[in-house]
Amino acid sequence: MSKLSLDRVLQSQGFGTRKYCRALIEDGDVAVNGDVVDNYKTLVETDGLVLTVFDEEWVYREHVYIALNKPANFECSRKPSHRPGVLTLLPEQFTWRDVQPVGRLDHDTTGLLLISDDGPFNHAQSSPKRHISKVYQATTQDPVTPALVEQLLAGVQLHDEPAPLKALSCVQRGEHQLEIVLEQGKYHQVKRMLAAAGNHCAALHRSQIGGLTLESLGLAEGEWCFLEQAQLDLLVPD
Ligand code: URA
Repeated sequence: MSKLSLDRVLQSQGFGTRKYCRALIEDGDVAVNGDVVDNYKTLVETDGLVLTVFDEEWVYREHVYIALNKPANFECSRKPSHRPGVLTLLPEQFTWRDVQPVGRLDHDTTGLLLISDDGPFNHAQSSPKRHISKVYQATTQDPVTPALVEQLLAGVQLHDEPAPLKALSCVQRGEHQLEIVLEQGKYHQVKRMLAAAGNHCAALHRSQIGGLTLESLGLAEGEWCFLEQAQLDLLVPD
């Protein structure tokens, strides 16, 4: 059980600055579990809290865990320079909460991207020590050969890595299609592994992280959803 003043609650949920949140409350635009509260100092129990702001319901969440089906031509970096950032695909409220992508996908890579404002979660998900597998669908420029698959499974040497990097699994899915599973998350890893093995990655899509598949979320490109505990539980290593 934890109680916070209503202005702090609103600010924590990304409704704006403390000053703006106080004004919303004093104007009678905020209800707490259905009852309008116009004193911003009112202490509110956050467990099970449902706010109504401008007639829209908002379930209180201490942290948000979001899955996005990332389209091509969006950058994951904190300060995007050449293309719009992935956070522009989310309601502005999340930017106020300082959500960040968990790891990165290249601007031209599509698929499952996690986004959260829970720093320790982001850190743990990105940690190489956790061995969380990621499944990619790669389209290759040259046809896939058994030798390519063997090489990726045996390990390829990238110039700035101390040891060869191996795919956990690698399966041909079509003449130019590979499903490749990686445990590490090195910079441009799939593209660089394919290049080191003598092919070229023409397109890349991430379809799964740990046991969480993009398909199970039913998100169209550019769509996002909250992840609930059962889905977060799938993100632990197998
Ligand atoms: N590997 C890559 O090369 N790019 C990505 O975006 C993800 C994995």
